[in-house]
Amino acid sequence: MIPKSLLDQMESCLEKIPFKTQKTIYDRISKRYRTGQDRALQSKEEAIIYSVARLPATYAVGQNVLDSLKRLYPLENLKTFLDLGAGVGASRWLVEEALPSIKTLTLLERNFHMYEVGNLLKHALGSFILEDYQTTKALSLHDVTFLSYTLSEIPKNERNLVLSKIWSLTNQVIILIEPGTPEGFQVIKEARTHLIERGGFVLAPCGHEATCPMSSQDWCHFSCRLDRSKAHQYIKNGTRSFEDEKFSYLIVTKQKSPKHLAQRIIRPPLHPKGQTVLDLCTPQGIKRLTLTSAKDPLYKQHRHLSWGEAFNDAPLEK
Ligand SMILES: C[S@@+](CC[C@H](N)C(=O)[O-])C[C@H]1O[C@@H](n2cnc3c(N)ncnc32)[C@H](O)[C@@H]1O
Repeated sequence: MIPKSLLDQMESCLEKIPFKTQKTIYDRISKRYRTGQDRALQSKEEAIIYSVARLPATYAVGQNVLDSLKRLYPLENLKTFLDLGAGVGASRWLVEEALPSIKTLTLLERNFHMYEVGNLLKHALGSFILEDYQTTKALSLHDVTFLSYTLSEIPKNERNLVLSKIWSLTNQVIILIEPGTPEGFQVIKEARTHLIERGGFVLAPCGHEATCPMSSQDWCHFSCRLDRSKAHQYIKNGTRSFEDEKFSYLIVTKQKSPKHLAQRIIRPPLHPKGQTVLDLCTPQGIKRLTLTSAKDPLYKQHRHLSWGEAFNDAPLEK
């Protein structure tokens, strides 16, 4: 969940925009997104409204993904973190909370208005740079490189070049996050192939480097639930006090982690009477595992597992 200090600072920026205008600005931005027009935010007000509307979701997803990293990778050696396409720099809070070993955080953002609002938000960590990560030459090696909802903003035919650059800028871990849509997953899937070809190990969501087994009709994605503030509900015309954000992601490491995982639950588990049915991504493809209370001692242990969780220690059904 987004930290109170960040939410309060965002909402105090929002107070300077007349109430009625807030919704109009949000509608204008989302129309540009929906109709495939230029997504670049065009004013400070747009950057504030965009962030109030989207940050709670992108933050919750970031927490979820860093949680997967924490479970599977030794964190103590991670000292430097590079956030490319940083938006207003919410990763400053994310890193402080999730990766306390990080001492140096560098954030790059090319949109002046995002950068401007990012500088209004006060946090002790991080050096914020107004620069394009595709063209910059000023970056040094970092332990972790993080791209949250930004790789899809790069034209498709330029993404592999960007990924090669990221590969050479990264010492240990590359993290990519995209919307949990067929298009978002396609960006992740292509990046996965490219980074494996460069020698990367996939830490999550899949714990293997075999060809992605997801069929072309389906897409690998996960979901997280977040609370919505009153301001958030007002801007987005929402009636519910929560939102479910779907996301696709990839964590690639340069060295194989000792805690490598074998299987992940890739769809919401089914619970027909007395059973739990799990769809697992495994190095041998997608397997359906049925745990039956009467016959299976693993049922008790695993029946509460949920979509997105690792499934490590049970033999697969034949
Ligand atoms: C959808 S926003 C996501 C912001 C933030 N990463 C988050 O998850 O909340 C994508 C951001 O990436 C930035 N961006 C896209 N391409 C970029 C590039 N080549 N260099 C720097 N920033 C870029 C955009 O300006 C935008 O602020």
